[in-house]
Amino acid sequence: MQWLPVSKARIADSVGRLVEIRGWVRTRRDSKGGFSFLEINDGSCLGNLQVIVPSSLPNYNSDVLKLNVGASVTVRGELKASPGKGQATELAAADLVVLGLADPGGYPLQKKGASLEFLRSIAHLRPRTNTFGAVSRVRNQVCSSIHSFFQERGFLYVNTPIITASDCEGAGQMFRVTTLDAQNPPRNPDGSVDHDKDFFGKPTHLTVSGQLEGEALACALGRIYTFGPTFRAENSNTTRHLSEFWMVEPEVAFFQLEDNMDLAEAFLRRIASDALNHCAEDIQFFAERIDPNIRSTLLSLAEEPFERLSYTEAVARLANSGEVFEHPVKWGMDLQSEHERWITEKLFRRPAIVHDYPREIKAFYMRLSDDGKTVRAMDVLAPRVGEIIGGSQREERLEILESRMRECGLDPDAYSWYLDLRRFGTVPHAGFGLGLERAVQMITGMTNIRDVIPFPRAPRLADF
Ligand code: 4AD
Ligand code: MG
Repeated sequence: MQWLPVSKARIADSVGRLVEIRGWVRTRRDSKGGFSFLEINDGSCLGNLQVIVPSSLPNYNSDVLKLNVGASVTVRGELKASPGKGQATELAAADLVVLGLADPGGYPLQKKGASLEFLRSIAHLRPRTNTFGAVSRVRNQVCSSIHSFFQERGFLYVNTPIITASDCEGAGQMFRVTTLDAQNPPRNPDGSVDHDKDFFGKPTHLTVSGQLEGEALACALGRIYTFGPTFRAENSNTTRHLSEFWMVEPEVAFFQLEDNMDLAEAFLRRIASDALNHCAEDIQFFAERIDPNIRSTLLSLAEEPFERLSYTEAVARLANSGEVFEHPVKWGMDLQSEHERWITEKLFRRPAIVHDYPREIKAFYMRLSDDGKTVRAMDVLAPRVGEIIGGSQREERLEILESRMRECGLDPDAYSWYLDLRRFGTVPHAGFGLGLERAVQMITGMTNIRDVIPFPRAPRLADF
């Protein structure tokens, strides 16, 4: 007999057909009338498939009555429109094969309602829960939207290196990559480590951003985006920081800051509306279990324009807010998360783009404004999540860039290839970086960033 393999997500078209479904048992209930009811989840969507198993199956006693939460099965039978409440279809099992039992004594997902904290300790099994299934599907949708958005606009997807010799953010928070013996590295006469003998003949690190290489590609190809893993060795134990996260970085030749802000806004809008349109069942789950306001947050994100204000205006608004902040506000300081939250959650109640920050608190590559005090930087702030995008127009003038590097304690000679982009056919250009995990936090309402990446890396956390 021909059985049609189907996934739960696409099952509706197959009513009346003989189908095969494979998945994991969520519940088993035995009825007196000679039937057992199984709820099977195959990961393709939040909902389970109800399977009705008659006791007349030859392996009913030997197999079916042993099924517990977590066991894996293949079931074949006719898919029927369900008369019952709560599901549109059900499967009348004609054949059931147990692939693997799950001992109820040892299986950690035996009971419903495990805390997110406990689930973090079983990162290899938490994908089987409703919450992490929903997060994984939304994360997949966000990635798909990222590619669609840029591809539709003629951006080339390029790949930038993970191992690098330059520090993009100039902040020195990098993981070293080396093959030298940590116990006994080769040394120079003055006692310092001899990097000449290292694998690459110089100190190298895991990248904190693909931007600098992205600029080289944009200054030839026009519009590009990178999308890859990024590493930061900052010791931040917060609900918004990971040591390994994924960043999307578009870079566009001939763009100025205003174009960059428009692009960032359209981009986030698209991510929100795609999630609403393509992940309705999962978003409904987040609304019920995680954040009751998530739908209205997403609708407003998708439809209302973002607020835009300069850093100077933001500081004035904060100073006159009457609010008592732990860090008092003063022009020149970096905005703290309490300030960002006040702007998006109290002042505007929606995302805001703060632009034109003081030069002292921003990276060397940002374009210096005529006032000499600010650079053409922008941060997109989202309610609850805070900074979700950081970007800028880039300094395209050679002399100014060199002097900004020196000001930031960097040696222009070490960035000579980057300076070549200004020496030969320089153009105005701009770009930004979106942290994928912060975007997923924004879409799902999940409060801890460690719960939106399958296997999180954070200080003292590299299990699994
Ligand atoms: O603001 P950042 O540091 O900007 C850059 O790296 C630029 N080179 C990007 C560019 O212009 N091409 O980082 C960009 C975004 C942040 O807004 C945030 O969403 C995310 O990356 N991010 C982190 N996400 C998780 N954990 C961390 N430790 C993060 N650090 C930054
Ligand atoms: Mg930033």
